[in-house]
Amino acid sequence: MSAHRKFPGGKLVVASHNPGKVREIGELLAAFDVESISAGSLGLPEPVEDGMSFVANAEIKALAAAKASNMISLSDDSGFTVNLLDGDPGIYSARWAGPTKDFSVAMQAVEEKLAEKGAVTPAERSASFICALSLAWPDGHVESFEGRVDGHAIWPPRGDKGFGYDPIFVPSGYDATFAEMEPAEKHAISHRADAFRQLIDACFTKN
Ligand code: IMP
Repeated sequence: MSAHRKFPGGKLVVASHNPGKVREIGELLAAFDVESISAGSLGLPEPVEDGMSFVANAEIKALAAAKASNMISLSDDSGFTVNLLDGDPGIYSARWAGPTKDFSVAMQAVEEKLAEKGAVTPAERSASFICALSLAWPDGHVESFEGRVDGHAIWPPRGDKGFGYDPIFVPSGYDATFAEMEPAEKHAISHRADAFRQLIDACFTKN
């Protein structure tokens, strides 16, 4: 028996204005009875993400979309977190790249702070990617899940296949960075895959 509320099938608003993310979420849910619609195509406003955790921000976005559209809505919030830096950049992962979204600047900032602390070993440089997913109903009910992948930060950056902080992240048990892996290999072990597995187990029924 599950205490989770199930998605009943049909229309699902993907509470993101990023077309790449909307497409990826649609693909991940393709095996289920889901017709995904983007928040952007409905002209829904983007709420202020002022939560203090990934789950808090995912819930803000999903609840805002569910209330504005009167439809069940799904959102995600993700980022890179370094233990020795008290979890930074964390929920500020996108912001560290500055207005031009230059992630070489963000990765350099992580490295400077780790170097200041004299972090050398993988244990001292331990880091994770986190992904929170929230499924919200117009009545205010929300189901949230947090996925993660643990590893460590390396320097200099390696690989050009990924995005964001991928070139400095080596997952535990691997030698390659996320940016050196084939997308399918990364997607099998990623924080997003982990969060989706939890969401699907709890709230979706296979066709
Ligand atoms: P948001 O959830 O779209 O706000 O993304 C937050 C930020 O976290 C992104 O801009 C990326 O820099 C970082 N991030 C999230 N997931 C990944 C990933 O899989 N690889 C690299 N960076 C990521």
